Amino acid sequence: MSNQPIGIFDSGIGGTSIFKEINALLPNESIIYLADSKNAPYGNKSESEILQLSIKNTELLIKKGCKIIVVACNTATTNAISFLRSHYTIPFIGIEPAIKPAALNTKSKAIGILATKGTLSSDLFHKTLDLYTNQIKVIEQIGEGIVPLIESGKLDSKAMRDLLQLYLKPMLMADIDYLVLGCTHYPYLIPMLTNMLPKHVKIIDSGLAVAKQTKAILETKGLLNVITNTSSIKLLSNGSIEILNAILDHKFNVSYSNF
Ligand code: DGL
Repeated sequence: MSNQPIGIFDSGIGGTSIFKEINALLPNESIIYLADSKNAPYGNKSESEILQLSIKNTELLIKKGCKIIVVACNTATTNAISFLRSHYTIPFIGIEPAIKPAALNTKSKAIGILATKGTLSSDLFHKTLDLYTNQIKVIEQIGEGIVPLIESGKLDSKAMRDLLQLYLKPMLMADIDYLVLGCTHYPYLIPMLTNMLPKHVKIIDSGLAVAKQTKAILETKGLLNVITNTSSIKLLSNGSIEILNAILDHKFNVSYSNF
């Protein structure tokens, strides 16, 4: 069992930001990554549509023999992970906007959260918000249009810069000193965001924390791969292989699959 792969899924290519962290931290592990680009974005879908797509991805990864599943998508985590955990015996790792570190460390008492509509409207997100943001001004912003631009290979474009300018404006007016990235596609925007934000504004992305949590759970359950030189990495996309390849700097084996 311990040499079985780690399964990772996202609505598309964004979860590769998590895949890269996991692969760097656990180089001995096999990984199967599903980029459900055909159905991206998940962010504007209903809770039940997000749940159905999450079930489809989960069952495919279980069929492929995965020992753990990383839901590398804030939208799927906040809308579906409690159902997945209660219906399957395999362990799940999720990702949610990292509100807590931003809320605990803000000096200006104002933080910004950029995420999808599906994440910002979920019960799980509101519960976390209620828990940590008493006395703190939270500027929530739906990143409408960002995921489709990334999925179509237009990461570094004028259209993207214009969108970000629009979305950052109310946050900067509220004097935020933390920007929480609540979507796994957004870490790819960090170079552009860093150029656009004042120097004192810190960007929080939870990719490394998710990788560390994956390692900790594998350790606790005795599932870390102890056999060296057996790992294999497979990235499957039901959308554009070229765009998935480009975001991975052509460093991995990518194939098309009609799932
Ligand atoms: N990457 C995803 C997330 O973390 C989903 C974005 C989308 O498909 O709308 O929320």
